Amino acid sequence: MAEKQQEGSNVEEGSSRAAGKVVCVTGASGYIASWIVKLLLDRGYTVHGTVRDTADPDKTWHLRALDGANDRLQLFNANLLEEGSFDAAIDGCECVFHAASPVFFTIKDPKAELLEAAVSGTLNVLRSCKKASVKRVVITSSMAAVTFNGKPRTPDVIVDETWFSVPELCEKHQGHLLHTLILPMDG
Ligand SMILES: NC(=O)c1ccc[n+]([C@@H]2O[C@H](COP(=O)([O-])OP(=O)(O)OC[C@H]3O[C@@H](n4cnc5c(N)ncnc54)[C@H](OP(=O)(O)O)[C@@H]3O)[C@@H](O)[C@H]2O)c1
Repeated sequence: MAEKQQEGSNVEEGSSRAAGKVVCVTGASGYIASWIVKLLLDRGYTVHGTVRDTADPDKTWHLRALDGANDRLQLFNANLLEEGSFDAAIDGCECVFHAASPVFFTIKDPKAELLEAAVSGTLNVLRSCKKASVKRVVITSSMAAVTFNGKPRTPDVIVDETWFSVPELCEKHQGHLLHTLILPMDG
């Protein structure tokens, strides 16, 4: 009971700190981003969400149905492959959660289908952040960046920020997809 009351007062405290603050979530229709949008709205933030097509109900209905969305969620069209596409959504935001990314598990041409949007798209988003003097940017990485390094993953092992996948192991075990996912981190 006491814990519940404490939780309630923490949420209220968070909401009052968030009031009037504007944050952007890219790829808002996606799995991870939808949850980020929900949690931000619950905490009282105003959210600029980007989707590729704001007129597509299949991609947006679950966002528009969220508590607080009527008053504090604005959706913008933005595509990772278009330079400057994120400017409008990011303008006026103090924080950006960048979760838009192509996510494929079977792929013919990783360079064209995945790398172009993931790498150039992230740079596009970062350029928009710079223009808008955004204070904080959070980028979702891929588990492929840390999983394949040949180290044991038993319950006693702690996976921390020193873990990175080894490109040769990705190539060997998972083929091109995972290899290309981590290559940009080396370059
Ligand atoms: N889900 C997980 O458990 C997990 C775990 C570790 C890391 N991650 C990483 O987290 C990120 C998001 O993953 P997710 O599972 O939420 O994927 P998801 O549900 O497929 O969402 C990806 C989002 O990116 C958008 N997108 C794709 N290509 C785009 C483009 N060219 N321009 C603009 N937007 C584009 C999609 O928009 P549309 O709706 O328009 O297609 C979609 O909203 C990825 O980088 C993924 O690697 C996910």
